[in-house]
Amino acid sequence: MKTLIAGNWKMNKTISEAQSFVNEYKTKINVHSNTELLLCVPFTCLHVVSEACKGSNIFVGAQDLFFEESGAFTGAISPKMLLDAGASFVLIGHSERRMIFAETNEDINKKLKIAIKHGLKPVLCVGETLEERESGELFSVLETQLKSAFADISNTDVRQVVVAYEPIWAIGTGKTASSKDADDAHIKVREILTKIYDKDFSDTVRILYGGSVNVNTYAETLSMPNINGVLVGGSSLDPENFAKISDYV
Ligand code: PGA
Repeated sequence: MKTLIAGNWKMNKTISEAQSFVNEYKTKINVHSNTELLLCVPFTCLHVVSEACKGSNIFVGAQDLFFEESGAFTGAISPKMLLDAGASFVLIGHSERRMIFAETNEDINKKLKIAIKHGLKPVLCVGETLEERESGELFSVLETQLKSAFADISNTDVRQVVVAYEPIWAIGTGKTASSKDADDAHIKVREILTKIYDKDFSDTVRILYGGSVNVNTYAETLSMPNINGVLVGGSSLDPENFAKISDYV
């Protein structure tokens, strides 16, 4: 299984800033056969970033999509548009989408289905709030999020999906889950996926950790047995920092 090192730029960078990031980043990364690199960029940067990444080992992803094919959905972006702009991955259900944009588990399920239908690889984000963790609800929160996200998605289709465990209290706060806590949560995610699908899937699905990953923490996080990659927000904005993280072997 290849380690996936993914950056999530969120609502940052203009087209020219994105271009100069990729130019610098490309000069600083090495190709490791066991690693895949992914940049999840704003819609407006997808085309230039995917052009700039052609011929490299960097995949390009979007940060959201809408669950309809086309039509009167002002402001929305369809899966076809993402593919056309060069995306091959898409983040789905990021906690900022859930909280700020009121995305429901049902929306997330529809988004997963349409992404899979079009051959986009979804990175499904799940995670608990601090309150939920402290009141012992970690397992049930993850179970609800995963069960509803995967409702009516077949055993074959689900194999396109990557899962990202992102405890909400660790996102953008500088608080990283300890590598042991993160690994334990990944074990729980695998247990739930075994229940929903089977052991073959839960053993082979990539589960990324996200939440304040930085140049000082990524190596320990990635060394944990149940962690198959990282989803990096703040520390993916600087090409030098993100190149360091991307160099993990
Ligand atoms: P962060 O963001 O690394 O800035 O905490 C991670 C994410 O939200 O994907």
